[in-house]
Amino acid sequence: MEAKLRVQRFDPDGDRDRHYDDFAVEVPENAMVLDALIAIRENVDETLSVRCSCRSSICGSCAVRVNGQATLACNTKLEKVAPDGETITVEPMGNMPVLKDLIVDLEVHWNKVKAVTPWIRPEGPAPQREYIVGNEHMLNLINTVQCILCGACVSDCTSLEVDANFLGPAALAKAYRFVGD
Ligand code: FES
Repeated sequence: MEAKLRVQRFDPDGDRDRHYDDFAVEVPENAMVLDALIAIRENVDETLSVRCSCRSSICGSCAVRVNGQATLACNTKLEKVAPDGETITVEPMGNMPVLKDLIVDLEVHWNKVKAVTPWIRPEGPAPQREYIVGNEHMLNLINTVQCILCGACVSDCTSLEVDANFLGPAALAKAYRFVGD
């Protein structure tokens, strides 16, 4: 099937004005947005910069905005965002500086995560065995445990847009993961 994408471009070493390029590429049925972006990079414009690694919704590196909403490109079906084959708009995440095309500098995100000290600091000597947490207690934590810290929620956080000092949803979720535990 044909995928039509309007992709925001930014080249720090060339045309520094952000602009949009239109692409049309052939992709398999059931393709994800990331499949189309990779097809563009491999067959149409090798200068298109997009970050990805696992292609399985695990690493979080492919987060972008699709039609104005942050999402994982590897977990977003084209037929869901463009059921009638319409053009989709792909942009880099918000609230973070753009390095090139769809790649953002995640330092803002990681600094906020680190600011909440998101790891356990035991009081006294380290235990000899792991602590066993009951299933009933994990129900409270399951959503935050599953967070892969991709930064999509940071991208679309309107509070961060007006207050850069706000810790943001990802850091607070990470903090809750340990406080709740
Ligand atoms: Fe790893 Fe999408 S490529 S989450």
